[in-house]
Amino acid sequence: MKKVAKKTIFSVKPYLPGKPIEEVKRELGLKNVIKLASNENPFPPSPKVCEAIKRATQIINRYPQGDCYYLREALAKRLKLDSNQFIFGNGSDELIVLAVKAFVGEGDEVVLAKPSFLIYDIASRIAGAKIKEVPLQGFHYDLKKMKAAVSSKTKIVFLGNPDNPAGTYLSEVDVQNFLKGLRKDVLVFIDEAYFEFVTAKDYVNSLALLKTHKNIIVTRTFSKMYGLAGLRIGYGMANKELIDILDRIREPFNVNSLAQAAALACLKDKAHFKAVLKDYIEQKQTLYKALTKLSFEYEESFTNFILIKTKQKAADISKLLLKKGIIVRDMSVWGMNHYIRVTIGTKQENKKLLNALEDVT
Ligand SMILES: Cc1ncc(COP(=O)(O)O)c(C=O)c1O
Repeated sequence: MKKVAKKTIFSVKPYLPGKPIEEVKRELGLKNVIKLASNENPFPPSPKVCEAIKRATQIINRYPQGDCYYLREALAKRLKLDSNQFIFGNGSDELIVLAVKAFVGEGDEVVLAKPSFLIYDIASRIAGAKIKEVPLQGFHYDLKKMKAAVSSKTKIVFLGNPDNPAGTYLSEVDVQNFLKGLRKDVLVFIDEAYFEFVTAKDYVNSLALLKTHKNIIVTRTFSKMYGLAGLRIGYGMANKELIDILDRIREPFNVNSLAQAAALACLKDKAHFKAVLKDYIEQKQTLYKALTKLSFEYEESFTNFILIKTKQKAADISKLLLKKGIIVRDMSVWGMNHYIRVTIGTKQENKKLLNALEDVT
């Protein structure tokens, strides 16, 4: 079958997700394993959200609402957008794939930062696009060079804001300057998967840009701050014409009923959101202080993970940590041989990580 499959598929390096906890326990015969590799929320959803999921189990004999009606209405009200400005996905990953499917064909170009979130590259390669990668400058986007990389063949520019793995963000000024003079028929994909973690005052107000730009889509997710990674639900916001294009190629029942019910309950549970955010801010500061004490260099992060420079090879230190029951992301996959990426966990998990880092270095 290899001969008849699309050739572009073979230019893709398969995505290697962080190892699951159970697999590591089994393989290494460990009892206690923690996973700090996939930027998940360390806390399960609140009891109110779990209750909503339980109630929704009573309707899973039926297909889900294809338009995520109640969630759409709730988000439209909260974000002051029209309800026809939303599209929902089986994770925000799906929206990246849909955008590429809709706009990118063989020989077209896509502009990305390097390193950046791997799905931008994978989806674009499968579509047969030429990928123009613009290296980060000191872990920040080089937007001048990214704009210069846009040609008459460019269909999409991906802006991960904040991006993964660097964890840095783009400001209002950065994005406004980037958009100035950019062709109006280039789709600017602003991926805000980590939106809720950004504390910077000058972070771009991307939803305001939708009023003036028909070529922008902004995506967010319930996987990170809201802790629903396992249910797979994310959403995109854009001008209704752009949403209509993406909706035509979306599977009719792409978001399951449990995810829809859980996401709606998450929006209502403001107390839980506040508590998780407070804990995250505290834990991030604790980690920064301890990492500095241990003489590790790291990048200031506006996400729920930290990119840490390691003196040893990232592959070696990751293996040593794994033996101690800690799964982190070895950044060699991104070509960063002396970096690991760690998700900010619970207080106990972070303590375990710091003790282990002290031991292995
Ligand atoms: C930058 C970025 N975008 C999008 C996603 C995808 O999130 P999901 O598909 O769970 O919504 C991730 C997940 O790690 C990410 O890091």
